[in-house]
Order: sequence, then structure tokens, then C-alpha cells
Amino acid sequence: MAFTVAIDGPAASGKGTISKRVAAHFGLGHLDTGLLYRAVGRRMLDGEEPVSAARALVPGDLEVEGLRTAAVGEAASRVGALPEVRAALLDFQRAFARRSGGAVLDGRDIGTVICPEAEAKLFVTASAEVRAERRFRELVAAGADTRFEAVLEDIRARDERDMGRSDAPLRPADDAVTIDTSRLDVEAAVAAAIAAVDAARDVR
Ligand code: DC
Repeated sequence: MAFTVAIDGPAASGKGTISKRVAAHFGLGHLDTGLLYRAVGRRMLDGEEPVSAARALVPGDLEVEGLRTAAVGEAASRVGALPEVRAALLDFQRAFARRSGGAVLDGRDIGTVICPEAEAKLFVTASAEVRAERRFRELVAAGADTRFEAVLEDIRARDERDMGRSDAPLRPADDAVTIDTSRLDVEAAVAAAIAAVDAARDVR
């Protein structure tokens, strides 16, 4: 039977790293659903209408270079507020979730909308300041010329849009286990996530 792990959380919470590690640990497939919205955001920046771009999306679009930039993340958050875009991306995500080997999906609405029946649900979060600090360090390490305050402002604006939209807003599912990574290093956060998934497997 397919075993689905739903991992949601805000930008730069550490959910991407945790999802990859949890998938590898349990031998499950992994879908970073943010990439779907980023691919649509990328096409919008290139002049396409976002709803038709979402309907025309093919798996190869997720391999495109440059999807991880701040500008594409911002565009992804904007197209993610459109109900028709979300509807166009639904079936692909649900099919991936039920694939036979089991799967980890990470995003904003996996435990609440895409896979409300997921066997394990995690909500990975951290304070806006800690998330901005992590993002700022990544950007500086990559050679970007930016200020911490600007990064913090971007994180807050993204949170507000992702949590404030009427269709599938970011929020923890009622039955999700919350992992606050503000004071955890990567290894401790991954261990907490694996323990939570193990506990969910035991009660099945
Ligand atoms: O996880 P990420 O930073 O790659 O996501 C980029 C944006 O995509 C995020 O700010 C909102 C949108 N998104 C969404 O609306 N629903 C998801 N399941 C995943 C991402």
C-alpha cells in the first residue's frame, strides 16, 4: 500500500532538506511541489498566462535551470494564489502521492488539501528572523549583494501572501506534528522528523 508523508511549512523553514532526508531514509519518492509553482511562475515571468501555463506543465519543466531564484519564488507565490492554477496542478500531485513505493510531498497545502488522508503529516516552521538569517547566509555565500532587512521583509511578505490567500492557505493540518527548527540544527531536525514518521507508521 502507498505510504504518504505530507510536509508543509513556510519559506526557508528547512522543509526541503528534511523532506529529502526523510524520503531517502524510508526509501520513498519525493516531490517538491514548490517546483510546480516555480515552473508556472517562471513561465509567467516569460510572458505566459499563468493558468494556461499550469495546464500545459510537463514534468520536464521541473528540471529547468534557475527555478530557485528569489524572483521566481516570488512569482510562484503570486501564481499560487490563483485557484485555477492550484486546480490544474492537483491531479499530478495526488497521483504522485499514491505511487506504489510511497512518497514524501512537501509544500504549503499537502496535509490540508492535496493529501488530507496522508499517513504522516509534519508542519516544519521557524521564526521569520531565523528563516531570514538562513536565507541571507545562503545568498551571501552565493555572492549576492543584499541586506538582512530586505531578506526579512521578503520572507514576511511571502508568509503573508501564502497564509492570507483564500484558496488553500498555508496552515498546519489539525493532525500534523509541528517541528519548530528555530533552535535545531539540521541533524536534530531530521531526527525529529524521522521519529514522527516512525510513530505514524507504528499506529497504522
Ligand atoms: O516551497 P517554495 O519556496 O519553493 O514555494 C514557492 C511558492 O510556491 C510559495 O511561496 C507558494 C507556492 N506554493 C504553493 O502555493 N503551494 C505549494 N504546495 C507549494 C508552493
